Order: sequence, then C-alpha cells, then structure tokens
Amino acid sequence: MPSSKTILITGASSGLGHALALNFAMPGATLCLHGRDADRLEQVAADCRRRGADVVSATGDVTQAPALAAWIRDVDRHHPVDLVIANAGISGGTARGIEGIDQTRRIFAVNVDGVINTVMPLIVPMARRGHGQIAIMSSLAAFRGMPGAPAYCASKAAVRIWGEALRAELAPKGIGVSVICPGFVVSRMTAANDFSMPMLMPAERAARIIRRGLARNRARIAFPWPMYAAARLLATLPTGLVDPLLRRAPRKA
Ligand SMILES: NC(=O)c1ccc[n+]([C@@H]2O[C@H](COP(=O)([O-])OP(=O)(O)OC[C@H]3O[C@@H](n4cnc5c(N)ncnc54)[C@H](OP(=O)(O)O)[C@@H]3O)[C@@H](O)[C@H]2O)c1
Repeated sequence: MPSSKTILITGASSGLGHALALNFAMPGATLCLHGRDADRLEQVAADCRRRGADVVSATGDVTQAPALAAWIRDVDRHHPVDLVIANAGISGGTARGIEGIDQTRRIFAVNVDGVINTVMPLIVPMARRGHGQIAIMSSLAAFRGMPGAPAYCASKAAVRIWGEALRAELAPKGIGVSVICPGFVVSRMTAANDFSMPMLMPAERAARIIRRGLARNRARIAFPWPMYAAARLLATLPTGLVDPLLRRAPRKA
C-alpha cells in the first residue's frame, strides 16, 4: 500500500480513535477527525496540530448517514482520503439483565450502520483513483457470541465479515481493506467494565500495532495474540462445552 497522507478517523475524540489520530499526526499528514464531543475532539485536533499535522474536524453522529456522507464527500473533494478508519463504536451488555430492544438497536445502529455510513461514501472515489485503504474496527468479541454482550458481539461480527468480503471485492480496484480486532484496550468503553480484563493494553500501544498492520495491508489485525488464540478456540469448541463456561463470564454494563 502507498503511504497514507490523508486519514479520516471516526470516534477520534476518545480512546483508540484518539490514540490513532496522535499516532498518524506528523508533518505532511492531513487528519480528518470525527466525533461527538466537541471539546474532546478539539483537544485531540490541537494535539495533532502540535505534532505538525493539518487537521479538519467535525462533530456529528455516525448513524446520521446523509450528514456524515456530506461531510466525508466534502473532505474528500479537498483532501482525497488515502485511509479511512471506521472506528466509532459503543458497547453494552447484560449486567443489568436481558438486553432490551433499544440497546440492541442502538448498538447495531452505531457499530454496523455507522461503519457502513463511514465507508460507503469513499468506495467510489477511491475506486476512481485506483487507490485507497479502508480499516474497519471490529473486536476479538466478533468470533463468538458472548452472553454478556450479545448485540455488541453480533455487531462486531457483522462488520468483520463485511470487511473480509469487501477486501476481496475491492483489491482489484486498488483498495486495501483491513479488519481490526483488538482485545481489551484502555478507553472510556473499558472504564465501564467492573471486571478484570486479561491483557488490557494502553490505547497508544494498540494504535502502534494497528498502524503497523495497516502499513502492511494486513487482512486482519488481531491482538494480543494469546487472546486472539483464545477467541478462535472458543469459536471452534462445541456449544455444549462453551455455553456453560461463558454463562459464568462477567457481563458488560
Ligand atoms: N476498548 C476496547 O477494549 C475495544 C476492544 C475492541 C474493539 N474496540 C472498538 O474500538 C472502537 C473505539 O472504542 P474505544 O474503546 O476507543 O471507546 P471510547 O473511548 O468510548 O470511544 C468511542 C468513540 O466513538 C465515538 N462514538 C460513539 N458513538 C458515536 C456516534 N453515534 N456517532 C459518532 N461517534 C460516536 C465516541 O465519540 P464521543 O466520545 O465524542 O461521544 C468516541 O470518540 C469501538 O468501535 C470499539 O467497539 C474497543
């Protein structure tokens, strides 16, 4: 993949998106940052500018497809996007009981529709240029449905599979697609978890791993590897064995 100069990141106001923005911030880079919280987003933009990057930023909701597409198209007209990282996401689980319809729909809206709304406006322009890279934020939770977070796991599985399919489809058009599957990373999202998170890693370290994987156009950037191995194992074991185990696992708030 050619090096990325213009990078669009959703969910840049916090956690992994914030760390990725800082990691890509350097002279010659243009960062297009999107988030909801204007103050936190502006702080990230200012930090990136201090590192020498040009920054364009906008607040909004990734579930609002027309507004998001209008912003992305406008950004792409002025700064053709080399790399888009569809990172914005929310989590939720069953710590307070069975997951309700509102929470389920909201998680799918942000984590699935939000990713689609971010990626789709760029596919045609990237294909026309014969160049581009798409990174989709999934999770190690995408490999096996966990009773503690049904909608979250399902939403992450949906975008993982979507990204895998897009990769094969878009490669002949010069577009790389990578699916990112992190384990536990320190962020606002994991701060809500009141259970111990194995191999929890700082967001800055996760951003470095992701950037290395993107530079190599890896199909799947899954880490840390022992957690990835465990996720793959859980996915292959018989349900009768795995379900009783997972029922005892902690539940997301
Ligand atoms: N942390 C982990 O352990 C972990 C592991 C695997 C995958 N992930 C994935 O990594 C991504 C980033 O999560 P994080 O851990 O960095 O969590 P985070 O600190 O809570 O950050 C989430 C980001 O998404 C943005 N966002 C949420 N809903 C949005 C919406 N409707 N419209 C626009 N932006 C929205 C937030 O914006 P505001 O803050 O401005 O509201 C924030 O910038 C998520 O997709 C998550 O599922 C995280």
